Amino acid sequence: MISIAIDGPSGAGKSSLAKRLAAELGYVYVDTGAMYRAIGLYTLRAGQNTKDAAAVAALLPDIHLDIRPGQGAQQILLNGEDVTETVRQEQVGMAASDVSAHPAVRAFLLETQRALAARSNVLMDGRDIGTVVLPDATVKIFLTATPEARAQRRLAELQAKGQAADYATVLADIRLRDDQDTHRAVAPLRQAADAVLLDTSAIGLEESYALLKKTVLEHIA
Ligand code: DC
Repeated sequence: MISIAIDGPSGAGKSSLAKRLAAELGYVYVDTGAMYRAIGLYTLRAGQNTKDAAAVAALLPDIHLDIRPGQGAQQILLNGEDVTETVRQEQVGMAASDVSAHPAVRAFLLETQRALAARSNVLMDGRDIGTVVLPDATVKIFLTATPEARAQRRLAELQAKGQAADYATVLADIRLRDDQDTHRAVAPLRQAADAVLLDTSAIGLEESYALLKKTVLEHIA
């Protein structure tokens, strides 16, 4: 099986680029962030503190995730409910970042993620795919951009959806999430030693896509 690992901070354009490339290559797209988001959503709905490791761990036996991967798309069901869209909310993203720091949560998802990669050619997107989940991935990409560039893009996305947002708040959220994701004790966000670094700060979506595709094709050919 061929596996493409794409890691990087939030807002670097990973998911839209990864989905498109998976569809073009005919690979299964696995969005691991959505799994952490579903656990974050469940914790919020249960009225528990997402930063409380013991409280979140106690909820895990009640959580059943059904990942329905597809080419360039992934559906996620939380105890039978399709939460694919619900988990995209900003507040769920922050809850995901909180719960993802707990070792019990990471252990809970690890086997699911590895099993998906054992079944088909995958393009898996996350924070620790190249370092922990698939250390033997065929190709590893670390896709990043400066916090300022990511905040500008995120702001444009929110405005396009008609949601009220301002640059300073979006930038502060991005910095906070980066800080949490890079400084946690377990599986922190970092570039694997053998990953190719792609920085999209100064280039647009099309150029980023062309660069990603070229890099991946060079490795899987
Ligand atoms: O990629 P995303 O924004 O959907 O991810 C949401 C959060 O989940 C992110 O802040 C960190 C966490 N996450 C993780 O710890 N490991 C992954 N492989 C994917 C996401």
